[in-house]
Amino acid sequence: MCCRWTRTRPWRISLPASCWRASRPTRRTTMQLREKFGRPLRLAVIGGGPDSWIGRMHRGAAEMDGWFRVTAGVLSSDPGRSRAAGVAMGLDPQRCYGTVPELLAGERLRQDGVDAVAIMTPNDTHYAYAAAALDAGLDVVGDKPVAHDFAQAQDLVRRTRAQQRLFAIAHGYSAYPMIRHARQLVRDGAIGPVRLVQVEYIQSGLATRVEDGPLTSRLRWIFDPARSGLALVMSAIGCHTQHLACFAAGANVTRVMADVGTLRPGRQVIDHVSALLEFEGGARGTFTVTQAAAGGENDIRLRVYGEAGMMDWSHREASYLKLAMQGEPVRTIGRGDPDLPTGILALGRTPRGHPEGLREAFANIYAEMAQERMARQLGEPVPDFPYPRIEDGAHTMAFIEACLASQACGGWVDVER
Ligand SMILES: NC(=O)c1ccc[n+]([C@@H]2O[C@H](COP(=O)([O-])OP(=O)(O)OC[C@H]3O[C@@H](n4cnc5c(N)ncnc54)[C@H](O)[C@@H]3O)[C@@H](O)[C@H]2O)c1
Repeated sequence: MCCRWTRTRPWRISLPASCWRASRPTRRTTMQLREKFGRPLRLAVIGGGPDSWIGRMHRGAAEMDGWFRVTAGVLSSDPGRSRAAGVAMGLDPQRCYGTVPELLAGERLRQDGVDAVAIMTPNDTHYAYAAAALDAGLDVVGDKPVAHDFAQAQDLVRRTRAQQRLFAIAHGYSAYPMIRHARQLVRDGAIGPVRLVQVEYIQSGLATRVEDGPLTSRLRWIFDPARSGLALVMSAIGCHTQHLACFAAGANVTRVMADVGTLRPGRQVIDHVSALLEFEGGARGTFTVTQAAAGGENDIRLRVYGEAGMMDWSHREASYLKLAMQGEPVRTIGRGDPDLPTGILALGRTPRGHPEGLREAFANIYAEMAQERMARQLGEPVPDFPYPRIEDGAHTMAFIEACLASQACGGWVDVER
């Protein structure tokens, strides 16, 4: 039934109507929500000082559409430097705190206290800061990995639910409009039942022996496994990669058989993981991540094969999605194509052909979480947004543990649920 050339619009493959209808709120309805709420949400940033690139990314994305205003922060593990950095950033000096406990206590006393925190500190602090923020009644945007292990991540799931809070994860790649469209096409059955998922994330930052020095403060925590997590490459990019595959395929991983180790001989931290995957529903998959591939840049590629066709997405051309139905010409779908569903179009901000990137994708996560929060608070219908949540983070931690267990036993290992 699907995927024949239509007579009237030969450039458009005739996917089921549901693939093209509006599935999410449009810009107009979201503007009404914000007007009704009456103010932007107030956000405290934890980490992401002037020296970190991801701090600028979070702050810019949070404020991009006016859903959030960054109003408070703890920007360094050193209280003096933290306060100075906040002031230099233009925050109210009274809301530039030295530590996270000070921030939570200080904001609780204010009439205009923050609504949420965004956490972008070194990995070993994520769990404790997120738990404290949830217990203080705040929503959380957490960077990955959300915790040290599956048990801690499950605890964050419990706290989020017990406090009836929102917990978004900064998996920006899954918030690109074309990844959202790919996911919707899978859900609508456009390529049939998913049979194979191939995902890879290749970088070159560890292609040389940077650990031999000189070490910046960033490299010091990254090369300390007690601080960076169970497996360095998984904490850095493997989290994103597994989430992207599961998000697009609409299924979690049930079993893995993994090769976990180093491409660079003699290295003490894990810089490479390749794995065979089995997904819910039986689809098979391959997964490769490394930060030690010389010449690599930030190369992410995702291919999802169904019974009737496949989709191909590359981060190098993030605004385009290739759709190839069996026996039919390949179609390239572009962000901003006029016949896309309005909900997908609303994830872009500039007319088609104008480059958008990771910052806008991050902004989509912030925008969705803010809309959910505002709708809840106003008693309005709560939109069902697909932004990454703490439950996804828990699955990621279980996936990482299963990869390590598979390496240890040399066989297939179930991913805990
Ligand atoms: N989502 C993404 O795409 C993405 C990309 C890069 C980094 N990250 C994540 O962001 C986090 C930070 O990575 P980075 O590369 O920016 O590290 P970084 O070391 O460059 O920066 C860390 C920042 O946090 C501050 N900081 C350190 N300890 C702190 C504390 N206890 N309290 C408050 N501030 C503190 C530091 O002063 C610094 O400004 C990591 O968890 C990493 O996984 C996510």
